[in-house]
Amino acid sequence: ASTLGAAAAEKGRYFGAAVAANHLGESQYASTLNTEFNSVTPENEMKWDAVESSRNSFNFGAADQIVNHAQSRGMKVRGHTLVWHSQLPGWVSGLGTSDLRSAMNNHITTVMQHYKGKIHSWDVVNEAYQDGNSGARRSSPFQDKLGNGFIEEAFRTARAADPNAKLCYNDYNTDGQNAKSNAVYNMVKDFKARGVPIDCVGFQSHFNSNSPVPSDYQQNLQRFADLGVDVQITELDIEGSGTAQADNYRRVVQACLAVSRCTGITVWGVTDKYSWRASGTPLLFDSNYNKKPAYNAVLTAL
Ligand code: XIL
Repeated sequence: ASTLGAAAAEKGRYFGAAVAANHLGESQYASTLNTEFNSVTPENEMKWDAVESSRNSFNFGAADQIVNHAQSRGMKVRGHTLVWHSQLPGWVSGLGTSDLRSAMNNHITTVMQHYKGKIHSWDVVNEAYQDGNSGARRSSPFQDKLGNGFIEEAFRTARAADPNAKLCYNDYNTDGQNAKSNAVYNMVKDFKARGVPIDCVGFQSHFNSNSPVPSDYQQNLQRFADLGVDVQITELDIEGSGTAQADNYRRVVQACLAVSRCTGITVWGVTDKYSWRASGTPLLFDSNYNKKPAYNAVLTAL
């Protein structure tokens, strides 16, 4: 196959990109997206501050634009994200415990029902664990007020809201085996043992020289898959350039293909022009939409 999406589809997988609604009108952006990718993730448009900036007043305009763009072209959509400490409006942080609980459940239910049947996988909870060796939860309004049970509650609410969407836990620095990924692993294992609904784990995979592709990346994906969940590479970008960058991208693709439950890869942007890593060049197309060596490495590996 001659495009990323078609090549991934031949392997039973999707190949997606994070997309910003305000770039869809740029013709090179749209044509690169439409030609190469068969899944999209709204980069910011489904986050809490975008859809519910004031309590129980929902605005789906920008997210709908992306979902409609994708649906009319037969692309899948990943939902990102329902419960996260970041890009969270101030009114949520200010709530007391019982209001926070009902606001969280109302948010999950309203957003998921709006998109019911249109989202293949939802990042229900994003980045709930700390970095470092503690394996502890990260402080957040949800953690601090609702306690450890907030993740389970969010997943149960999500299952009820759209029973056909895959429900994912998503995080970064969990790509190799370490204290943080062990903590997530133990949570997933516990959820599976107790029948708490969870279908997939997302590995963000933001890599750079301080945080390279781990040598045990594939092994780590496999141990999660062995718990009975799908695994997805959800926000891939790799700082660098040329052959070194291409080699790292190849390793990521090979790792996913080697794990039968690794169902798809999403890169965190279409082009270096709009990468959130403003100083870097971490994506597959350069800022003029030319294919980089990393693009060729990915297409060849798929
Ligand atoms: C980033 C977006 O790319 C930026 O545009 C925004 O300013 C901040 O968030 N982990 C996540 C993503 O789960 O939602 C983040 O996206 C990158 C890190």
